[in-house]
Amino acid sequence: MSYNTILTNVDGKVATITLHRPQVLNALNDELMDELGAALMGFDADDNIGCIIITGSEKAFAAGADVAKMAKYNFQEVYRHDYISRNWEQIRKVRKPVIAAVSGYALGGGCELAMMCDMIMAAENAKFGQPEIKLGIIPGAGGTQRLPRAVSKAKAMDLALTGRMMDANEAERAGLVARIFPQAELLNEVSAIAKGIADMPLLTAMMVKESINASYETTLSEGIRFERRLFHACFGTNDQKEGMAAFVEKRPAKFTNS
Ligand code: HXC
Repeated sequence: MSYNTILTNVDGKVATITLHRPQVLNALNDELMDELGAALMGFDADDNIGCIIITGSEKAFAAGADVAKMAKYNFQEVYRHDYISRNWEQIRKVRKPVIAAVSGYALGGGCELAMMCDMIMAAENAKFGQPEIKLGIIPGAGGTQRLPRAVSKAKAMDLALTGRMMDANEAERAGLVARIFPQAELLNEVSAIAKGIADMPLLTAMMVKESINASYETTLSEGIRFERRLFHACFGTNDQKEGMAAFVEKRPAKFTNS
């Protein structure tokens, strides 16, 4: 597939999607979100892929939804065409692990896109924020919901009401970011992490993702019940047999994703 606004690359079992509208700091327009959704669905369906990375440029993961486009929208249009819901939520359907590798600005919809990923790895120059209030809108791609879950109500209110940015260290301390790397090493480091994940038994990795995501949607008792069912299901897989046999026999496991 060839795209206009993203670049894709496959290295072994790791697929990398690079947001690519450099002239506007990867501002997220409909074309980009359509292409991102199509690429994600393609890699999710591809049995040779075990982990997906979404990244941007050194200066910007994404500086938000495309303000020049949004400036012309009216209520009738956004409601009629289901702006955001129509194509931004494709990423939620992806069942394989997705890592956001964030360098530079992740603002507004860019921060929200990063938060839709399963984890955020950041470069030291990363800056996160929800500055929508300065434009007369609220975050519209999950920012008011995912940010407080990630960083606490206090910090989410602080960020979304003042529109200020937080740097990588603050974001890591607050729990938004999993790890921080020097900018020049970000992609290599994240690729190595993704490769490690892609080498894990795929069905188990998908179950880990499904179970952790369920914790955001349910009560503790129901969540634990759900986890227990998936845990029991692991014992029906060949990879559980192989993983445990390999440990007992002191040899590397050869997973078959079955
Ligand atoms: C459209 C954008 C853009 C955006 C930057 N550009 N962000 N275009 N939408 N979100 C464009 C600029 O207009 C400029 O184009 C070029 O990219 C380079 O940006 P500069 O502003 O010149 O760069 P710099 O001075 O380094 O400042 C970087 C910045 C600033 C601090 C990130 O660009 C900025 O504040 N951008 C907007 C951030 C924002 O408000 N994001 C939230 C958007 S609302 P030209 O043609 O002048 O070179 C949102 C809604 C989410 O995301 C809800 C639904 C998903």
